[in-house]
Amino acid sequence: MAMTPFDEYRKILEKFDAENRLRNIPQDRTDLPGIDLTSNDYMGLGARWKEYRDEFFLKFPHASFSSSASRLLSQRQDAHVHLENLLAGLYRKESLLFNSGYHANVGIIQALAIPGTIFLCDKLIHASMIDGLMLAKADYQRWRHNDLSSLRKLLDKYKSMERCVVMLESVYSMDGDTAPLRELADLKKEYHNVILYVDEAHAFGTRGRFGLGLGEETGVIDEIDIIVGTLGKAAASAGAFVSTHELLKSYFLNSSRSFIFSTALPPVNAAWSEHMILKLLTMDKEREHLIEISDKFRSGIEEITGQPNNSRSHIVPLIVGDAHKAMQTASKLSLKGIDALPIRRPTVPQGGERIRFSLSAEMTEDTVEYILKTLKEVI
Ligand SMILES: Cc1ncc(COP(=O)(O)O)c(C=O)c1O
Repeated sequence: MAMTPFDEYRKILEKFDAENRLRNIPQDRTDLPGIDLTSNDYMGLGARWKEYRDEFFLKFPHASFSSSASRLLSQRQDAHVHLENLLAGLYRKESLLFNSGYHANVGIIQALAIPGTIFLCDKLIHASMIDGLMLAKADYQRWRHNDLSSLRKLLDKYKSMERCVVMLESVYSMDGDTAPLRELADLKKEYHNVILYVDEAHAFGTRGRFGLGLGEETGVIDEIDIIVGTLGKAAASAGAFVSTHELLKSYFLNSSRSFIFSTALPPVNAAWSEHMILKLLTMDKEREHLIEISDKFRSGIEEITGQPNNSRSHIVPLIVGDAHKAMQTASKLSLKGIDALPIRRPTVPQGGERIRFSLSAEMTEDTVEYILKTLKEVI
């Protein structure tokens, strides 16, 4: 048979399939009954969007549906500037919007990666940060996950570099464990060349008195040089922001290619983010509830597996260690009305295959008990 230019791509897909890691976009199940543990709508604002629609359009009747250009060219700026000002006031730093968390991480890393910079990354940082490093052909080293003695060794080794950008997540997206931010902030003080860069994607909206993240909860916002927050998760919108020094805001605006060369988020979306953030600020009771049910759920998972679980957040994994088993468990749960995602390679390393449960502040204690009871039966 004649070769086609597509044959190799087909073979790659066939290999994915043979290894139980071929993916498809699932069907829309928003209107079906069932418990959703797949989404990042941690505070339940996304599920309730219809309740907020009328007040939103009354408040923002003129928000347009397209920016029609990059921020550096667009005439439609007000909604973006209002949102940046709101965030700047909350963090008491400058703020710059990006089109997504992916754009933010890739753009920031590419901009920081000038000669004299080395990136020191926690082993488990998100793919968007890794892609930023790859695209920038940056110099980087990885430290053992959440292990500050491993980071310290690298900091000592690179003491004479002009800049060490220490990169991590505050709440890890696949394990739900949290970074020792206070200790990191203390460690930073021992070195003159550290830029501390924390991705708060899973903590923005869910942690801290006002939902500003784990930096707020641990009282170290001022020590972090670059905070990335995403708006498509707890904030039930889309986009991302960086909260940083005045100088770096201006530098990213002038140097981050994903900021410069991409059409800005629609103003209506920036206005919606503002509307949702104002709600998030007052949801401290819901945040406490989310922490309580997450602790309960984690203890239940520990009981089922007989193993300690590292999660310290609303993201709780059940490691099954095999792609086929992960898919089987997820489909058995789905038959019982519980939607949870099987996570496979390349999102997690081989052997780390799991079911990722992401809890929402909307869930009651009874729901958590029901999920645990069902899990026991299924496993
Ligand atoms: C830690 C982390 N950072 C960044 C992103 C990317 O954010 P976004 O979905 O807004 O592109 C994600 C996942 O979506 C994430 O888990």
